[in-house]
Amino acid sequence: MKPDIVNRRDIEKIVHLFYEKVKVDDLIGFFFSDVVQVNWEQHLPIMCAFWENVLFYTGDYEGDPLTTHRGLYNKFKTTPEHFQRWLFLFFQSVDELYEGSNAQKMKDHATGISGVMQDKIKGSD
Ligand code: HEM
Repeated sequence: MKPDIVNRRDIEKIVHLFYEKVKVDDLIGFFFSDVVQVNWEQHLPIMCAFWENVLFYTGDYEGDPLTTHRGLYNKFKTTPEHFQRWLFLFFQSVDELYEGSNAQKMKDHATGISGVMQDKIKGSD
């Protein structure tokens, strides 16, 4: 039995594991290294704040993921296959470390946001 996610430290572990997978992924890794040269020192804490807000309502995230991903799409089109792989790696990262209602909530939100993003991004063609 794995523990559930209870604090920021747990979220950091997931986010770090997720990006270790993303960076070497043959289908979506290049978005983070070539399409955008992600500054990891800046990006990782932003992602942790985003998820901390989703799970624990901290209110510390002030970004706009939709605009970010629309900008990304305009540089290189993100397809359903890319989103599918993103979710696969994200689910894998959560499941390797945690289980329980917060783990489930994180995966549900990722799925929901992925769907909304794809719908809204399409409209910007
Ligand atoms: C095709 C799938 C995806 C790709 C290739 C992708 C890629 C990226 C990239 C390159 C950035 C910008 C990093 C930077 O500029 O430093 C970013 C930011 C972000 N992504 Fe994604 N992403 C994908 C799907 C998702 C999904 C499904 C979520 C759902 C939670 C998500 C959440 C975020 C958030 C919260 C940010 C930070 C935005 C900000 O700076 O405030 N992404 N993503």
